[in-house]
Amino acid sequence: MSLVSQTDLPAFLLACQQRCAEQMGAHLNRLPHMPLRLTEAMRYSTLLGGKRIRPALVYASAGALGDPRTGGSDVAACAVEFMHCYSLVHDDLPAMDNDDLRRGKPTLHRAFDEATAILAGDALQSLAFQILGETPQLAPELRLRMLTVLAQSAGCQGMIAGQGIDLAAVGKSLSVTELETMHRLKTGALISASVEMGALSAGCTDPQTLTALRDYARCIGLAFQVQDDILDVVGDTATLGKTQGADHARNKPTYVSLLGLDGARSKADDLVADAIAALSSLGVGERAGMLEAIAVYITSRQH
Ligand code: IPE
Ligand code: IPE
Ligand code: MG
Ligand code: MG
Ligand code: MG
Repeated sequence: MSLVSQTDLPAFLLACQQRCAEQMGAHLNRLPHMPLRLTEAMRYSTLLGGKRIRPALVYASAGALGDPRTGGSDVAACAVEFMHCYSLVHDDLPAMDNDDLRRGKPTLHRAFDEATAILAGDALQSLAFQILGETPQLAPELRLRMLTVLAQSAGCQGMIAGQGIDLAAVGKSLSVTELETMHRLKTGALISASVEMGALSAGCTDPQTLTALRDYARCIGLAFQVQDDILDVVGDTATLGKTQGADHARNKPTYVSLLGLDGARSKADDLVADAIAALSSLGVGERAGMLEAIAVYITSRQH
């Protein structure tokens, strides 16, 4: 299924999932001389499920800015998804959230073992950078910018900082502002990197455009987490593919615990409206349609 011709979100998401799985599988198949168990673990944690929201954001953002379809957006989509999958593997480890289920299946350390899960996560993170660095489809200066954006969003200025705050927050009460800071770093940064890398893969380096996209991404990143907290309370294990109420049980501060369920829902709606408003300043008209549809989907998703 072609990605460019999609105007309907479910079909677009399905096409992104298929394309991403195919491309990630091809990257994994190209890895030489890996111990089989480790490669199997990398495949298990990347190819079996996942909504692929971040790749969809890469493709939607590239599409809004006239993706030349030279393969740059494919590499960017795989890089952010490898990074995301690594973060999930490590997040689930006994020393972190100690979760048994991920994407409806046993977590990687349960299906394999803890040491393999640590190594597979490490290898996926390196692979994300490696494929960006190696890609011939992108001009060197775009590659360098994308590598920098990805590193900033994944590391101690982004996701890892957020994970650190998350660990420190167990059993503590946070203000809404502190909770927001944690989520901007923990999940928002990589979501924002996905949108920005999509634009860069389409060759867009215009500062105003990138600022509008970052504003959009900031809103949807937060909306994504508000919905995650809502689903932690109202979702069920079967549709979520993970333990329901886990954050609540761990006594982690959430939007629902701070704002109540209705307060969290109205916060999510406000964020989606702000995200859509940010898109209007892109000036690309209907080409931003898929980014708009993803913003709405993020708060209506049930898993
Ligand atoms: C789950 O992310 C973890 C968070 C960052 C909240 P997703 O909800 O995108 O997980 P998958 O990739 O679809 O499984
Ligand atoms: C996961 O956050 C965020 C990262 C992996 C960076 P959570 O711990 O809240 O996500 P779930 O609930 O396990 O999916
Ligand atoms: Mg966690
Ligand atoms: Mg977790
Ligand atoms: Mg959560």
